[in-house]
Amino acid sequence: MCGIVGYVGPQACADILVDGLRRLEYRGYDSAGLAVFDGKRTGVVRAVGKLQNLVTALKEKPLPGSLGIGHTRWATHGRPTEVNAHPHCSGEIALVHNGIIENHIELKRHLAEEGVKFASDTDTEIVAHLIHREAKTGDDLLGAVRRALGHVHGAYAVAVMDARQPDRIVVAKNASPLVIGFGEGEMFCASDIPAILPYTKRMLPLEEGEIGVLTESGLELYTLDGKRVDRQPKTITWSASQAEKGGFKHFMLKEINEQPRAIEDTIRGRVDLAAGDVIESELGIDAETAKSLKRVYFIACGTSHHATLYGRFLMEHIAKVPSQTELASEFIGRDPVVGEGDLVVAVSQSGETLDTLAALKVAKEKGARILAVANVIDSAIPRAAHGAFYTHAGPEIGVASTKCFTTQLAAMVLLAVFLGRRRGTLEKERAQEILQNFVEIPNQMRTVLALDDIIRDLARPLAQAKSALFLGRGVSYPIAVEGALKLKEISYIHAEGYAAGEMKHGPIALIDADMPVIAVMPDDKAYEKIASNVQEAKAREGHVLAVATRHNADIGGIAHNAIYVPKVDPVLSPFVTALPLQLLSYFVADFKGTDVDQPRNLAKTVTVE
Ligand code: M6R
Repeated sequence: MCGIVGYVGPQACADILVDGLRRLEYRGYDSAGLAVFDGKRTGVVRAVGKLQNLVTALKEKPLPGSLGIGHTRWATHGRPTEVNAHPHCSGEIALVHNGIIENHIELKRHLAEEGVKFASDTDTEIVAHLIHREAKTGDDLLGAVRRALGHVHGAYAVAVMDARQPDRIVVAKNASPLVIGFGEGEMFCASDIPAILPYTKRMLPLEEGEIGVLTESGLELYTLDGKRVDRQPKTITWSASQAEKGGFKHFMLKEINEQPRAIEDTIRGRVDLAAGDVIESELGIDAETAKSLKRVYFIACGTSHHATLYGRFLMEHIAKVPSQTELASEFIGRDPVVGEGDLVVAVSQSGETLDTLAALKVAKEKGARILAVANVIDSAIPRAAHGAFYTHAGPEIGVASTKCFTTQLAAMVLLAVFLGRRRGTLEKERAQEILQNFVEIPNQMRTVLALDDIIRDLARPLAQAKSALFLGRGVSYPIAVEGALKLKEISYIHAEGYAAGEMKHGPIALIDADMPVIAVMPDDKAYEKIASNVQEAKAREGHVLAVATRHNADIGGIAHNAIYVPKVDPVLSPFVTALPLQLLSYFVADFKGTDVDQPRNLAKTVTVE
């Protein structure tokens, strides 16, 4: 997601800020900008695209001064344009923000009623205006920021300057990261440690609900409700490359661990628990269209295709609309019967996959309504669609998709509930129940991630295997096929994902003592049936590892080993069963010493047919 850097001290800071932003490039961005106070006023320079464009713009308009903030923007609200790039200003206030303001529509309406004019489409600009409004009362910047944030719901890390108080930056954090760096007579802030590691090793990560004032002489830290906080910085011993990966050995492992946060960000502001509904203005599907849908077609490739298998399950289960999934490359190779009354959902983390884009164009030409689900705003697939639903996974660096996959699963839940409510197939009470359970899912995912040591031990023998079979039924079938794809792409072990009921129609011939069988079998209506399939594998000496629900005590008699996940609403079990398989593949690959983040022959964005 976005990157923030701030500096207050004796040095000219533009280069320090740009250097910090460069070290945050791995977070992904589509525009960048700086605001620097030059002794009289705050100058702002912003540019779309790579940081080099900002550097070029700074040559034309240098920003002298030793108090400044910088930002790389990963667009979420509003296209990646110069006006939408940060810093955003209102009067003397300049602000950079990382996160999502949930109640931005309501806040914008109030501000507009007060006569505020908006220069951008962003949720961030609203916060700049709120602070400006509060600062007019003459209070110091800290008080103005605190009062303004009192109106804001959502995730934020902010760094704010006021040209009338040019000795300070006010910072605050809620759900988005911000770290403070302590130099000698200078202070820094940044979204992540690597940005400021060359300047200081003494760092203090802000905690939830903290607000602070940075001046040359240090940090004054408070809670948002005004209590003084006394915490000391720690000395960071990581290398720059370790710091980029958040201390994890690989980006993939970091991204696996980021999933609870990524799901929270994807859900944030889109769920109305009281109404049992999904609020989504970007879908481009009104109630009439939802009611009259003839069919939902999902088109995607690879891992995104596996997410759509879950989408199909939910569409049938919740929205009661005939659904089918299509591999994009196969869809374009046939003469698909698709047209008016059909909703085609094109799912792609990169938003650029050529096969998916080509399939989308075929469906669009035939008159279908197109909805894109993508992680990269304004990428080719959402641009070509009638509506777009963005996942908020943040940039994924590991080629093997993990957090993009589970946020796609989250998009499937939101879409199914959205359609189910409008089609009258989902009662308000059941919708409330699903959505309440859904918002609790990130915490359930955290408990699964804590099983990493157990999963690492189970991965060790798997690293010797030549081949592995992943089985699942019903809602767990997509997770089985995705588990197999993860294992093969990063460990180079051949793996098959199979519908468990199909095992006896062929793959059972492969099973012997050398064939590990991984069964995804949470507690749901498919449990008894998949338990029988597992017994069949065991009877042929297959070594069975089950991913099962904690209270399924009989699993000990069924599988050789088990990874226990918490009990969740059965329709949401993929969120907890996907994680052990990602970790299993990761540890197998790490034991084998393969290039986990950049597996051979694979690309993160596939723009060839
Ligand atoms: O960017 P997309 O989601 O459209 O990419 C589709 C596939 O190329 C992608 O999911 C691929 O299978 C990944 N390597 C999976 O980890």
